[in-house]
Amino acid sequence: MNAFSVEAFAKVNRDLRVLGKRPDGYHELDTIFQTIDLTDRMDFLEREDDEVQLTIEGASLPVSEENLVLRAARALLARAGVTRGADIHLSKKIPVGGGLGGGSSNAAATLRVLAALWKLSLTDADLHALAAAIGSDVPFFLVGGRARGTGRGEILRPLADGPEEWLVLVFPPFSLSTAVVYVALSASPLTDSPGFSNLRSSDSGGGPDRNDLESAAESLQGGLRRFRLALSDLGATSARLSGSGSTVFGVFGDEESARRAFEGLAGLREETKATMMIVKTVSRAAFARRAMPPTAGQRG
Ligand code: C5P
Repeated sequence: MNAFSVEAFAKVNRDLRVLGKRPDGYHELDTIFQTIDLTDRMDFLEREDDEVQLTIEGASLPVSEENLVLRAARALLARAGVTRGADIHLSKKIPVGGGLGGGSSNAAATLRVLAALWKLSLTDADLHALAAAIGSDVPFFLVGGRARGTGRGEILRPLADGPEEWLVLVFPPFSLSTAVVYVALSASPLTDSPGFSNLRSSDSGGGPDRNDLESAAESLQGGLRRFRLALSDLGATSARLSGSGSTVFGVFGDEESARRAFEGLAGLREETKATMMIVKTVSRAAFARRAMPPTAGQRG
């Protein structure tokens, strides 16, 4: 029986612009995704029968049919028109509801690894289409490194890796629902002119990075702003919310500056009960090495 183990990476959005609300209810985005060195571990073992069984450790996530890992497995089997079985074990370290794409990353890893484990002849375009149907952020985790996402975030253009950066991640003791944050944003409908944004905050164009979901998330959870300001005060070159939150991150050019900022946050950690950690950005090559299964047929 084949067995593969991979790491499912987390991401941050280094920049996120909301261009407007689409007729299908989604929001048109222009965002920069970046993989970071915070991973879930996923173990896949082929089964003799046609059962797909998922076990989870490290998070109190229910194993329901709605779980993105099981949805990915089902979508793959339906697309390939076959029945197969696997035991999947997910060991979670990426916070749930944190804007770090953990569930999306798990789904992308499942698509990629099960396609190899079951020796399905699907193209990259097939996997991308399945990924986009599962969630807007899922296709990015088939690419990794740094990439620009447009449309719902699912239309991807891989970008060259930037210089390695150190990030201080702040996990507040609450999560945020992506759908609820988008409702709080109350964006105007898209206009016909491509590239024109009808959100006032988007009108500055270019310039420093930003996240147009920040003010909506901060209107739901006022405490978020304090983390962002604290990271800026401690020398972060950029301090932003990731995706729809609740994770806030500060970017530092070297490890020493990140460590100093981390130490400077001790009081805020104690007071707010937020968890914090330092992580590095992950290049596309390192992502490929650690997130991809070895060639199908070998033991993982
Ligand atoms: O695509 P996904 O299922 O991950 O999106 C979750 C929710 O986030 C959607 O139901 C929608 O409310 C919101 N969303 C959006 N525009 C996007 C991505 C997500 O409005 N580009």
